[in-house]
Amino acid sequence: MSTPELFAKYDVPAPRYTSYPTVPYWTDAPTTDQWTAELNRAFVRNPQAGWSLYIHIPFCESLCTFCGCNTFITRNHQNEATYTEVIHREWDLYRQQVPAFERAPLRQIHLGGGTPTFFSPESLIELLRPILDAAEIDAAHFEGSIEVGPRSTTREQLEALRSLGFQRLSMGVQDFNPEVQRLVNRIQPYEMTRDVTLQARELGFESVNYDLIYGLPGQTEASFQETADATMSLRPDRIALYSFAFVPWVKKAHRLFTKEDLPKGAAKRALYELARETFLDVGYVELGMDHFALPEDSLYQAYQAGELHRNFMGYTDQRTDVLLGLGVSAISEAPTCFHQNDKGLSDYKRRVLAGEIPTMRGHLLSEEDQRQREQILRFMTQQAVDLADEAQAADVRAYLAELIADGLVTVDGTRMQLTERGRPFLRNAAMALDLRLRRHQPDTQLFSMSV
Ligand SMILES: C[S@@+](CC[C@H](N)C(=O)[O-])C[C@H]1O[C@@H](n2cnc3c(N)ncnc32)[C@H](O)[C@@H]1O
Ligand code: SF4
Repeated sequence: MSTPELFAKYDVPAPRYTSYPTVPYWTDAPTTDQWTAELNRAFVRNPQAGWSLYIHIPFCESLCTFCGCNTFITRNHQNEATYTEVIHREWDLYRQQVPAFERAPLRQIHLGGGTPTFFSPESLIELLRPILDAAEIDAAHFEGSIEVGPRSTTREQLEALRSLGFQRLSMGVQDFNPEVQRLVNRIQPYEMTRDVTLQARELGFESVNYDLIYGLPGQTEASFQETADATMSLRPDRIALYSFAFVPWVKKAHRLFTKEDLPKGAAKRALYELARETFLDVGYVELGMDHFALPEDSLYQAYQAGELHRNFMGYTDQRTDVLLGLGVSAISEAPTCFHQNDKGLSDYKRRVLAGEIPTMRGHLLSEEDQRQREQILRFMTQQAVDLADEAQAADVRAYLAELIADGLVTVDGTRMQLTERGRPFLRNAAMALDLRLRRHQPDTQLFSMSV
């Protein structure tokens, strides 16, 4: 089968598997008390295991029309102080109900959004200092990272972050082409990205990541080649090359685009391939799905050591049993439970200020879920997994018969492996391990397309 035929055949809705079960399949919701009990249990089971903290800052000054994140568009910077107060209250609730948060080592903190650099340098310090001061930190094993929007990033913010111990930046770039930028309402000249990158290096940030997206309106092979070349001229340590997740049923702004405006199928994948070639040619290594790193970067080293991890924030080089998410819509995870905060900003604030952990939904994992979660995690990070037994291998072989016949996956004995040709179809193959999806096919489209 030719490559375009393969893309036509396998471009189907598929989860990205930043969790298992995927969010639409969360059925066994915990109460807030069950959730904190699961957290306490995780720390009792493994008192010295570290934990990770995610803080969601939802604010952006303007909306990029491709955006799929949970954002709140505003220019009112009074939000910085009011939101900080709520985050601190939420953190206090957890410290009271799960005392181990103050004793177990905090290994990672990640600020995401929205645009965390919506906050001034003073507000970043105000937000983070009390949290970091109350936590147990072993500086040698602590990793602080943040998503920065170059359009709102100043040297003073970067200095503040360095003074707080942050060493990693992830920058939204998306595309360098001015016409594509105009079409997605995100004007970000090359020089702006360059300057923030150079400042970050000067200030001693160890790793700079760029987010790029392929499949945006107006992108052509020629324009995206320029974006790939411009990226190489700045040589970030890591690159996330995301497939545009077009979800007009969730994001109103996506309805500004019609399917005809967007590259799709083989034409869309060609954009990925040309960027991939460009990156590999100058020494980057491809990791997992849609990620690249320089060989010196810790993400690549984790990959080589078989320790690459994946969670709601994407690929990371450290795994902790507990990930606590603070902030509106933030998702947390423990070995046996997922938890998500209220998605509405005013409901989230009201509930926290009333002294309540603002549970919106979650999922208590069954034993089968825990097994499938490990298998999917392994497959998404290593493109290969050992299945439980011959019965599961037979089931997977039958489910993936067409992908196997097309040379995209192999199942030898109990080892399931993606082939080099199968790389673009990682999400399709992972669905064989997604027992919840296989039992209940959705009636409407829930997931973005796999290509
Ligand atoms: C929450 S944003 C944070 C970055 C920061 N706000 C900025 O835009 O500069 C994280 C990344 O998600 C990616 N992203 C957002 N919407 C997406 C979509 N619909 N499809 C694929 N990737 C998307 C973008 O690459 C973006 O940089
Ligand atoms: S891409 Fe980043 S800056 Fe743009 S709307 Fe989304 S979160 Fe905000």
